[in-house]
Amino acid sequence: MQQVPIVILDFGSQYTQLIARRLREVGVYCEIYPYFEDIEKIEAKKPQGIIFSGGPASVYDPDAPRVDRAIYELGLPILGICYGMQLITVDFGGQVIRALQHEYGKAKLYLDPVHGHISPLFDGTKDGQIVWMSHSDKVEKLPEGFVRIAHTDNSPYAAIANEERQIYALQFHPEVSHSEEGTKILENFARKICGITSKWDMGHFAKEQIQKIRKRVGSDKVLCALSGGVDSSVVTALLYEAIGDQLIPVFVDNGLLREGERQKVEHVFKNMLQVPLITIDGKEKFLEALKGVTDPEQKRKIIGHTFIELFDEEAKKHKDVKYLAQGTLYPDVIESVSVKGPSETIKSHHNVGGLPDWMQFELIEPLRELFKDEVRKLGLELGLPREMVYRHPFPGPGLAIRILGEVTPEALELVRKADTILLEEIKAHGLYEKLWQSFAVLLNVKSVGVMGDKRTYENTVALRIVESSDGMTATFAHIPHDLLEHISNRIINEVDGINRVVYDITSKPPGTIEWE
Ligand code: XMP
Repeated sequence: MQQVPIVILDFGSQYTQLIARRLREVGVYCEIYPYFEDIEKIEAKKPQGIIFSGGPASVYDPDAPRVDRAIYELGLPILGICYGMQLITVDFGGQVIRALQHEYGKAKLYLDPVHGHISPLFDGTKDGQIVWMSHSDKVEKLPEGFVRIAHTDNSPYAAIANEERQIYALQFHPEVSHSEEGTKILENFARKICGITSKWDMGHFAKEQIQKIRKRVGSDKVLCALSGGVDSSVVTALLYEAIGDQLIPVFVDNGLLREGERQKVEHVFKNMLQVPLITIDGKEKFLEALKGVTDPEQKRKIIGHTFIELFDEEAKKHKDVKYLAQGTLYPDVIESVSVKGPSETIKSHHNVGGLPDWMQFELIEPLRELFKDEVRKLGLELGLPREMVYRHPFPGPGLAIRILGEVTPEALELVRKADTILLEEIKAHGLYEKLWQSFAVLLNVKSVGVMGDKRTYENTVALRIVESSDGMTATFAHIPHDLLEHISNRIINEVDGINRVVYDITSKPPGTIEWE
């Protein structure tokens, strides 16, 4: 089992995952566990330090989350953040009070020397740095053995420490990007206080995983469904590197893909990486099944079932398949384990690829420990082209949910052409990697226009361009009007059958990103 140098205990803050991401960005491997994790399990990870996250509770609430006090006896350095700070304060005999107002926003942090020295937690960071506050409760009386190591105008105890026991606590959130030197503070905790020297990067991760997969799979076969999206592409590349032709990668072309997508996927996997990709041409079957269907959920169901039918048909052709590889990511894992209390956000999964129980395979999920940005780095490490690794998310049901109303070959052609123009322009203007998604939606609305001297009565396309960090919330992108105008002109001039382009200015919530 892999050693986990830093264990983060989650008390339910919306920022817990950010703590892990910041540490991993600077090469410190860490994992998140719920605050009630068994102490033996934590010890088994051989951590060199522990972090308590923030959380929405108040320490004096009757059902406030508490830790097993044995954690303090492990002799490991501890860093408490926000709620974590308040918990440490109370556990060591100090006092916390409810502040009159919720303090939320930026504050200047002034470092306080102890015996003439600034705490190693702040090494290389400047006095007066900006930090991000978000709390109601605050420390009123320090526990014995603790001293203040930094303050702000509003918080006399913005950071405290018991250096002898190596316990540190912060009122602010170093993991949030508004805290200017927050990453450095977390890195100092890991490297200077916990003494972690190991460097975690995707090259090591790839090597380790390849060994693990080889050992586990032996001479058996592994099936995987490649969609062309980032996660399944990385899984396929990693598995092929590990077990070569024992991998059976299946790509189902459902006819609902964007322009040239099938060719791109085939080029990367078959030509560049030499993976023996099996492409199933399901175009006719999907279109037939979708005939006359207009309800979005109905579309999703039909696409899901048709996919499974085709995938199963292919799977049955292969003998000795024992495993199925899947691109589950770390945020999905954390969300499913931290249900009792921790992380308040709940992601709705609408993936169509879920397999029924009767497909009995053992799962291989080599990306279970990774965040999306790490998956991207791993993809580059494995030789996938940057264009594939940094592509926008694309929904499993594809263009079917970007055509309002019935999915027909004509509608697919229109939305595909408009989408291609939009993406060309977004890329040409250097905006692609700054955006979460940008795509065209074909509406079931016809309107009147003039072209030359002629009256037209044609289709409408909506442009959906959004910024987001996880797809849970999103804002419409403030694209320059000149560019919108240019895209609109190109679509109307180049796509026969579209005479009106509108820009969607709805954020999520209340809208969703997709229109269906
Ligand atoms: P919404 O429309 O719910 O989308 O705001 C959030 C993110 O999820 C994607 N999405 C889907 N992905 N199957 C998928 O695999 C689906 O049925 C589906 N519906 C939405 C959407 O593209 C966005 O990134």
